[in-house]
Formats: sequence, structure tokens, C-alpha cells
Amino acid sequence: MGSAVVDVVGENGLPIEHEWEEFLQGRYKEGKNQEEFRVYDAEANPGVAEFYRLNHTYQTHEYVLGKEKEYFGLTRGKKSIWEAAEYLNTLVDDSDPDTDLTQIEHLLQTSEAMRANNEPRWMVATGFVHDLGKCLCLYGEPQWGVVGDTFPTGCAYSDQVVFPEYFKANPDYNNPLYQTKYGIYEPNCGLDKVKMSFGHDGYIYEVMKNYLPMEALYMLRYHSFYAWHRHGAYDHLCNEQDRAMLPSVLRFNPYDLYSKGNTKPDMAQLKPYYDDLFAEFFPEKLDW
Ligand SMILES: [Fe+2]
Ligand SMILES: [Fe+2]
Repeated sequence: MGSAVVDVVGENGLPIEHEWEEFLQGRYKEGKNQEEFRVYDAEANPGVAEFYRLNHTYQTHEYVLGKEKEYFGLTRGKKSIWEAAEYLNTLVDDSDPDTDLTQIEHLLQTSEAMRANNEPRWMVATGFVHDLGKCLCLYGEPQWGVVGDTFPTGCAYSDQVVFPEYFKANPDYNNPLYQTKYGIYEPNCGLDKVKMSFGHDGYIYEVMKNYLPMEALYMLRYHSFYAWHRHGAYDHLCNEQDRAMLPSVLRFNPYDLYSKGNTKPDMAQLKPYYDDLFAEFFPEKLDW
């Protein structure tokens, strides 16, 4: 996609998403050596770099507090899981029309890979709903406020967050209160108290928090917090519960990243299974 830098600030759809996911797959390829790792820089990925420049510049602590207030009250209406998935499916990634999966296909590939691996039913349900929070894009939120790695706000940035150099443009970078190791937090306060950068992870957690087990909620809430789950950063903000849940987040991650090459799921054939699955865990309509 040659026009990535322009597309990334576009309004409708997620033009950067395909490129970002390839970037993630490359960044976390199993057995990758240091030399390969260096390929994932701004020069090799201008669209992804521009996306993170915007994300790291505008995701201030104050921005997060404002967006949480705007969305975490779940006042955007009631939808069933299927309705939410069909709504999300109107989001089109026009960067790669030939090979790209629809949003529903990515959800089904993730959940079907779990099912094929005999993961528990609550996890298959989690796999299906994990990206439904991307409907934030359809509410008009910019891509840099919906997808991409998440990170704590209100305390010093870890250099384990992707493209850390772009944090220098964030107004919080010059606020001394936010730039100590703990910032506004107590040591080992627990991630629940930490205001993460705003995005689809935090939002889907709010929608799902009454319906799924704790392991599932950690998978949803922190699946893009790569600095923590893949690089071990921010342990000083974690409590014992967070550490106990980390293996669950890691167990989720490969299904999200590596199920994309699998065969296209057959919706009509799979629907009865998912109707039963959703009925087991969710009310007919949820607040969004
Ligand atoms: Fe996601
Ligand atoms: Fe995903």
C-alpha cells in the first residue's frame, strides 16, 4: 500500500490494519534473530511508523480520561454479539481488497483455531469477541485511538513500547509528574488501576466484564499490551493477580496473530455452534 502515510489518517475503515498486523507478525515471529528484528523500523514500515507517531503523540493521560468517560458508560445502544459483528463488518480495509479477511472472518479464524485446539468454550467465545471493540472506528474515533499497541499513561514510558522515540512529542513527556517510574501510581498497584492508552481492548473489556471469567477478561483487556505480555515491561505496576493472569494473555496471543493463514471459515456452517456458544455466556443483547 503505497499511500499508507495518507491513508493512516483517513476516517472510515482501517486502512493501516493489514499492514500493522503484518508488522506484528514479523515483530513476533518465532525464532526471529536480532538482525531480522531490526527490519521492523520506521524506514521499512512508513505507514506503521506514521500510525504510531500519531498514537504516541495524541494518547495523553487526559485524552484517555476523556475517552473513558465518553465510552465506558456503555450508552451506545444494545446489540447482540451477531449484530455487533455484522456492524463491525461494515468496516472495510481497502488497502488489500483481494486477500484481506473481513472482520468477522478474523474473529472466526481466531475462535476456530482455539476450538480446533480444544480450548475451553469460554475461550472460544473470547476469541470471537476480542476485536468487536474496533467498532470505535465506526463511532468516528481515529485509528490511532482504536488499534495498535497499548501502554500505561500517567507514568514513564517504557522503551519496550514500539517506536518509543515518538513519545517525545506527547505533551505528557514534559510533565514531570507523569515521567517518574511510578508517575501517579503506587508501586504494584495492579493494572486495573492503571489508565491504559485508549483503544478497542479497554472498550471490549467494559462491554464483556460481567459475562466472562477473569482469564478471558485479561485476554481482552491486555491483548495489545505487548510491552507487558511479550517484553516484561511495567511489572512494577503489576500485582499478584496480574502476574497470575499473564500466562492467559500469552496463551491468547498466538491465536490472534497466527490464525490468519487458515482457511476461510464457512459462516453458514458454523452459525449453529456459535448461536449455542453465545447463548451460554451472553444475554441476548449487551450494552455497547
Ligand atoms: Fe485486537
Ligand atoms: Fe485480533
